[in-house]
Parts: sequence; structure tokens; C-alpha cells
Amino acid sequence: MPYSEKVMDHFANPRNVGEIADADGIGEVGNSKCGDIMKMYIKVDDNTISDVKFKTFGCGAAIATSSMATELIKGKSLDEALQLTNKAVMEALDGLPPVKVHCSVLAEEAIKAAVSDYYQKRGVDPAPLLP
Ligand code: FES
Repeated sequence: MPYSEKVMDHFANPRNVGEIADADGIGEVGNSKCGDIMKMYIKVDDNTISDVKFKTFGCGAAIATSSMATELIKGKSLDEALQLTNKAVMEALDGLPPVKVHCSVLAEEAIKAAVSDYYQKRGVDPAPLLP
């Protein structure tokens, strides 16, 4: 079995699936090679991510990494969310096979895109805030 139990659990029972109709930030990213697409919605209260949902049109690892990434940033500050790396998502899932590392990169990018969108909507350039 190339996948950890945690990956299989988050693939079979993904957390925070869906959309947020009045999201404060939305990030959509894709990988041109595999064609997978990930979309993240965040709700922000007082600089904290109070809610997050995702929709992923992609492989099982992309679904598992999206799910874990949402769990890792929920209740965290925007700064902390921007610091989340694909490596941290993979570690939280007890690893991924090498050919699936790019799926976790998509999860990191989707969160950065959603937080950047939040800042842009408020007239703030997110570039200096990105790690
Ligand atoms: Fe591309 Fe998983 S195969 S995101």
C-alpha cells in the first residue's frame, strides 16, 4: 500500500468539503501536467481563519492534501496560514509517494492564493507578506 492510513482516511472522508457563499478569499490553482484543480474558500474574522472549505477536482492525494491543509489552517491566523508548507501537509499525512508530492504543493498554493485574494480585495498587496 503506497498510501498511509491518514491519506486514505482524508481521501475517503475529506474534511471541509464544499464552498463558502460569502467567502472573504478564494484561491484556485491547477497543475497543467495532471490537469487537477483545487479551489479554497476562506472566511476571516479578526485576522483569523474562522472557516475554510475546498473543492478539488483531482486525484486522491490532491483530495487528501486539500482536506489536511484545511484542517491545519482552520482557526489559525492569516500569517500562520501563509507559512503552511506542502512539507508540513505531507508530514501531517505521514508522507506521500514521490510522484504525489506535487499534489501537496497544490494545497499549499491554493491556501496562499485564497489568503492573497483576501488581501487584494482589501487593497493590500500580498506579495511582501508571502514567505
Ligand atoms: Fe496532480 Fe494529484 S496527480 S494533483
